Amino acid sequence: MNDCVIECCNLETAYAAPLNRPILNGINCQIQQGEFVVLLGLNGAGKSTLLRSLVGLVPPVNGEVRINGVAVTPQTLPQIRRDIGMLFQGGGLIRQLSAIENVLCGRLGTRTTWQTLCGFPQRDHSLAIELLTQFGLKELAEQKISQLSGGQQQRVAIARALIQSPQILLADEPITGLDIIASQQVMQTLSQLHTQQGMTIVTVLHDLAIAAKYAQRAIVLDAGRVVYDGVCDHLQAQFSTVLK
Ligand SMILES: Nc1ncnc2c1ncn2[C@@H]1O[C@H](COP(=O)(O)OP(=O)(O)O)[C@@H](O)[C@H]1O
Ligand SMILES: [Mg+2]
Repeated sequence: MNDCVIECCNLETAYAAPLNRPILNGINCQIQQGEFVVLLGLNGAGKSTLLRSLVGLVPPVNGEVRINGVAVTPQTLPQIRRDIGMLFQGGGLIRQLSAIENVLCGRLGTRTTWQTLCGFPQRDHSLAIELLTQFGLKELAEQKISQLSGGQQQRVAIARALIQSPQILLADEPITGLDIIASQQVMQTLSQLHTQQGMTIVTVLHDLAIAAKYAQRAIVLDAGRVVYDGVCDHLQAQFSTVLK
C-alpha cells in the first residue's frame, strides 16, 4: 500500500452540458511505484481530463486525487508538480525558442521572475544538455523547435518534463502523428525511463499493439468511467467487448 503513487478515489469532475454527465464520472484507480500504465479509450472518453486532474489542472467536484498519499489541493500543488512531469497532447513546446531553451522552461515553475531575468544557472544548463544528449539531441540543442522533426520535438518535450527529476511521468498521446521510427524512438525513451530509472509512467496511446508491447497494465476509459483495468493481453478483444 505504501508504494501507491497515484490514487483516484471516486473522482468526479464538473458536469458538462453537451455530454449530459460529468466529464470524469467516479474514477477509482491506484497506480503503484514503477508501473508502466497505458490509458486507452475513444476520443472524448476523458483520458486527457484524467491526466490533467492528476496535476491539479482540473478541479474535482467530488472525490479526490492523492499523489504519494497527499491529496491534490491548491496548497499541495507546488510539491505535487515537482513529483510529476507532464507531456501535454501536442507537445506544448514554444516553437520560436530553441530545444535547450524549451527544456530550461521546465525549470520556470521553481524560479521567481527575478531569478529568471538573471538567466538560468549553469547547473540547469548542464542538466538540460545532459538530457538532450541522453535522447540523441545534443547536436540540435540550439535549433529552433520549428526546425525539428515531430519525433525530435517529442523527445525535447520529454527532456523538458524530466528536468525537474520527477518520480512520475504522464504523457498524453506522445506518439500521435509520428511515423513508425519516431514512434519507436519515443516509446523506447519512455521504456528506458521505466526500466533503468524505475520511473512510474502513465501514457495515453491509441495503438493497441504498441500499448501491449510496452505497458504492463491498461486502463480503458469510456464516457468518463473506467471500463477495464488489467493486463495488456488480448487488448483488441477487451477493447471491443467493453466499448461496444
Ligand atoms: N474544459 C472543458 N470544458 C468542457 N468540456 C470539456 C473540457 N475539456 C474537455 N471537455 C469534454 O470532455 C470530454 C473528454 O475530453 P478529453 O478528456 O479531452 O477526452 P480524450 O482525451 O479522451 O479524447 C470531451 O467530450 C470534451 O469535449
Ligand atoms: Mg485527449
